[in-house]
Amino acid sequence: DATYETILVETRGGVGIVTLNRPKALNALNATLIRELGEALEAFEGDDAVGAVVITGSEKAFAAGADITEMATKSFTDVYLADLGGAWSRLLACRKPRVAAVSGYALGGGAELAQMCDLVIASETAKFGQPEITLGIIPGFGGTQRLTRAVGKAKAMDLILTGRMMDAQEAERSGLVSRVVPGEKLLEEALAAAEKIAGFSRAAVLAAKEAVEVAHETGLSEGVRFEKRAFQSLFATEDQKEGMAAFVEKRKPAFRNR
Ligand code: CAA
Repeated sequence: DATYETILVETRGGVGIVTLNRPKALNALNATLIRELGEALEAFEGDDAVGAVVITGSEKAFAAGADITEMATKSFTDVYLADLGGAWSRLLACRKPRVAAVSGYALGGGAELAQMCDLVIASETAKFGQPEITLGIIPGFGGTQRLTRAVGKAKAMDLILTGRMMDAQEAERSGLVSRVVPGEKLLEEALAAAEKIAGFSRAAVLAAKEAVEVAHETGLSEGVRFEKRAFQSLFATEDQKEGMAAFVEKRKPAFRNR
């Protein structure tokens, strides 16, 4: 297995798990971490045994943002050429669903990483925010776009312009978070959700994720057209036959990714 400097990686059942591991910097996202996260996700993408991925941090911090010490002295040319934001493309290219398990701080780039996940499960202690404005910058890993799509303009403006944090309850009410669970149940719930997803027909899971993503990027009639074709195409899979036969025969389906 690959060894990494800033993350821990394991596979449990059908689930790949990445734990951000820079405890002294509250998992601040430096260039190495972003690169390693991309590599780990790419490896899971290529591993047929993995059906879904959980990304988590520590109890105190999911991630407290992009690494400020790394950015502090950078010039425009430095950040333009480094294209830190672009470094996320490998993670984003991973088609298997990502579940963020968030405890503690998810700030700046940390909140944006959660926004790049498909499900966000938060512990009661989670705190989300885009404090970039307090540093003289703005979100740079997609926050002005993904947060606004997730929570709407009014809430996004409030968070991005004031830099304040919101707690897990507010984040769930606002639509950023899928579920809030007690801290001691966080990983268990995230793993259970990921394991459940991993047990379904892979083609159906990827198609479902892709179709929901289309809702973010296109208009309604185009999105519905996309969905219709994806829905129809799943009738070409053996898994559709199996899933429906199992229902009729009142037994559990055994999906084989055929
Ligand atoms: N980058 C680098 N180091 C960080 C960091 C970050 N984003 N966040 C925390 N750390 C470091 C601290 O510097 C500190 O290191 P030392 O022990 O060496 O001093 C260590 O982590 C522990 O942090 P604190 O002592 O500050 O812990 P705290 O409990 O008092 O406060 C906190 C926690 C409120 C999260 C505070 O650390 C904080 O405000 N962090 C910065 C949050 C932030 O501004 N994030 C946005 C970054 S910019 C960005 O993300 C841009 C983008 O969109 C691309």
